[in-house]
Amino acid sequence: LDNGLALKPTMGWLHWERFMCNTDCEADPDNCISERLFMQMADVMVKEGWKEAGYEYVCIDDCWPSKQRDAQGRLQADPKRFPSGIKKLADYVHSKGLKLGIYADLGYQTCGKYPGSLGHHEIDAQTFADWDVDLLKYDGCYLDWTLVGEGYKNMSRALNKTGKSILYSCEWPLYVWPYAKPDYTAIRETCNHWRNYDDVSDSWSSIKSILDWSAKHQDDIVPSAGPGGWNDPDMLVIGNFGLSHAQQESQMALWAIMAAPLIMSNDLRDICPRSKALLQNKRIIAISQDPLGKQGYQTFKENDFAVWERQLSGDRHAIAVMNTQEIGGPRKFLLGVAPGWKLCNPKCNVTLILPKYQELGVVPVQTDLMLPVNPSGTTLLTFTSLNTSQN
Ligand code: DGJ
Repeated sequence: LDNGLALKPTMGWLHWERFMCNTDCEADPDNCISERLFMQMADVMVKEGWKEAGYEYVCIDDCWPSKQRDAQGRLQADPKRFPSGIKKLADYVHSKGLKLGIYADLGYQTCGKYPGSLGHHEIDAQTFADWDVDLLKYDGCYLDWTLVGEGYKNMSRALNKTGKSILYSCEWPLYVWPYAKPDYTAIRETCNHWRNYDDVSDSWSSIKSILDWSAKHQDDIVPSAGPGGWNDPDMLVIGNFGLSHAQQESQMALWAIMAAPLIMSNDLRDICPRSKALLQNKRIIAISQDPLGKQGYQTFKENDFAVWERQLSGDRHAIAVMNTQEIGGPRKFLLGVAPGWKLCNPKCNVTLILPKYQELGVVPVQTDLMLPVNPSGTTLLTFTSLNTSQN
């Protein structure tokens, strides 16, 4: 969407995967969906280096509103859980130098059965603008799939009409794929990012199925990504319970290769230092945020290895090698720097980023790199051309 936003994949935090629809603030005050949760996340994001690393949007997902609209037909936050209201929360988040995201649904109710925006999209867009909200995640539950495209376009127009810049996060293709091939040209014109596939959960099988889907459909989805519009494989679940460290490295590396939004769903108040360092790894974030804005894709899959590549700006290239064998120890992958590979002909500079940062130095063409890759982990490298005729 050409609204000047999301020129690089969005970075931030979203409550859904970790906190879901927990509305029981009496029994679980620290983890329920309340203004306190978002204020605490904003505080930690500033104090613990998240903002500095690039994470900017603090986002509310489903289950924030009151079950009833107000007398003027506007959505209102649940008064018990958000006693100060969303405008005040936005002010608070802005005072920390961060941005606030909110959630709505184009159907007659949200997936969690809160009021939907069907028949109310203009007033809802205006309400979000009045509250000074910076991002809208617009879900697609409870509407016939044939009406989903119109619903997403209507909200896009309504947001534009408010005159306020609001980043627009869609799930349009996700709700269309079961019935038809989505129109990615229209989607890219309408949205700043779009979910294609199932919700992520805190498990390696979920990450694998997202990667498999993305590789299988890459010819359909990769061309539509670029500054202003991105494919969204869903939240980063790094720092939770379900992934080994190697698997967390795989999610981080592959989300960067896929130019995916880096939107974490975890508890930043309580996160293990290794996960934190991985999420804040500036070399991986630089791949994600590369200004060329080209989404990477899978180029090889054999012998329980999968290779993904992404072209970067400045004659640079990122390669991720994943070991998909879930037994045994690290296995060596032989990466041949072939003469046909112009970037490294006659030589290039190679940097190992995962599992451990190491400058591998100048590598001439026809070198064989032997790369150890951990089981269900990923070895991530960048190649920088030293071929002056390339520049
Ligand atoms: C379905 C979406 O895909 C999820 O990301 C989340 O927003 C839930 N709905 C909320 O109900």
